[in-house]
Amino acid sequence: MSVNQKTIDIVKATAPVIQEHGVAITSHFYKLMFQHNPELKNVFNMAHQAEGTQPKVLAGAILGYATYIDNLPMLSAAVERIAQKHASLSIQPAQYTIVGKHLIQAIKDVLGEAATPDIIEAWTDAYGILASVFVKREGDIYNEKINEDGGWVGFRDFTVTKKTEESDEITSFYLQPVSGQLLQYNPGQYIAVKLKGEEHSHVNMRNYSLSDAPGKEYYRISVKREVGQGDKPNGIGSNFLHDHVLEGDIIEVGIPAGDFYLNEKSNKDIVLLSGGVGVTPMLSMLEHLVATHSTRKINWIHAAKSSKSHAFKSEVNELTRTHSNISSTYIYSDNLPEDKMERKGLVDAALIAELVENYSEAEYYFCGPKPFMKAVLNALTVLGVKEGQINFEFFGPSEELTTVEH
Ligand SMILES: Cc1cc2nc3c(=O)[nH]c(=O)nc-3n(C[C@H](O)[C@H](O)[C@H](O)COP(=O)(O)OP(=O)(O)OC[C@H]3O[C@@H](n4cnc5c(N)ncnc54)[C@H](O)[C@@H]3O)c2cc1C
Ligand code: HEM
Repeated sequence: MSVNQKTIDIVKATAPVIQEHGVAITSHFYKLMFQHNPELKNVFNMAHQAEGTQPKVLAGAILGYATYIDNLPMLSAAVERIAQKHASLSIQPAQYTIVGKHLIQAIKDVLGEAATPDIIEAWTDAYGILASVFVKREGDIYNEKINEDGGWVGFRDFTVTKKTEESDEITSFYLQPVSGQLLQYNPGQYIAVKLKGEEHSHVNMRNYSLSDAPGKEYYRISVKREVGQGDKPNGIGSNFLHDHVLEGDIIEVGIPAGDFYLNEKSNKDIVLLSGGVGVTPMLSMLEHLVATHSTRKINWIHAAKSSKSHAFKSEVNELTRTHSNISSTYIYSDNLPEDKMERKGLVDAALIAELVENYSEAEYYFCGPKPFMKAVLNALTVLGVKEGQINFEFFGPSEELTTVEH
């Protein structure tokens, strides 16, 4: 679908106004949408709504589109990331019509008389074009999945065959399909699970990275219990999984997706950095490198609060002990007496330079909480590592990463 010049001109001219009112428009949009289509509360993360992160994300995406309306290829990385996220949640074409209707209404309501018919028409066209880009890419992803051996799309019933405590706050769930096959995945990718307890008014969909190497007869997710603090309540999904999902229970699981995964074509030294539960996609990569007999030099750097919250230590120690190309380092931020012998502090440029022999040439993958992500990005920038060697996943709406100061 091509964009006509009038639409381009109007959208570009009005982008600053939309920017000014972006969060107001998207906040109003979500209110309209949940009022008229309450079934979509089963799709969106209502905690992100409460925190206000999701409205900012959508505002950012719309603005991004407005800026590049005549140069859509510039958006391809963002489109891929979002389409993968949408695909994991099984977003359907008909839902774009619903979103579009409420979004345009929200623009009208917030801008009032300033929203002339020409402006509304241009933004309707612009939304339609963006929606068609996503619908096409998501359709392609669904086709790829359905055409795999034993392929499927949407959500399937999986049995929790094993539940294992990995640390005082992280528990793994081994998931096997009730019938049919597993879809394969790239190490680093994630799935979505649908969770609904009797106390929940709607389904809670949550993404979890697959924490074991591909090729097993199960999916493994490893979930950190999200404990509330101050006026922040306990996390709904993670606490439900920890407290109420037991071995033998059945939960609904979506297709594996995500644009953050190991580049297997590369031969470069590889650095896998993780903070806390951000260890999950990194462990999948490490296990996969081992399973495929990779000879690449692998540096494993894991930051945790202390030995108590340090998950998968013995697995990684064992891999390090039995593979001369792997080295592992742990760094703790808390000062427990029993951790006296461990490194203390946070990941920074000096640590990476000390541990990674060929640090400017290596490939980096990292994941963790926001302060960790900031620290690692800063460190890599200080060390002059090129953007193409840096890959990361963020366990939340990715908007938050764009605010990381370099
Ligand atoms: C690609 C991806 C991969 C992921 N992989 C993993 C993984 O491997 N392991 C893992 O543990 N997690 C992972 N996550 C995170 C996971 O999806 C969940 O976000 C996490 O488990 C928390 O979900 P929850 O339902 O427990 O918390 P939620 O209920 O979603 O709450 C999230 C936060 O919002 C706060 N909040 C809720 N309501 C309000 C309110 N009214 N006001 C203010 N604050 C509020 C809560 O206190 C909490 O801090 C991943 C996320 C993504 C996007
Ligand atoms: C052109 C239209 C759309 C744009 C620009 C858009 C943009 C985005 C962006 C930027 C994210 C965050 C991705 C990330 O985590 O990095 C996101 C997530 C999401 N999108 Fe969309 N989206 C669109 C349409 C839709 C539709 C039609 C639906 C379904 C009704 C939908 C449902 C979701 C959900 C459920 C999430 C996860 C967010 C959460 O945590 O609740 N989106 N989208």
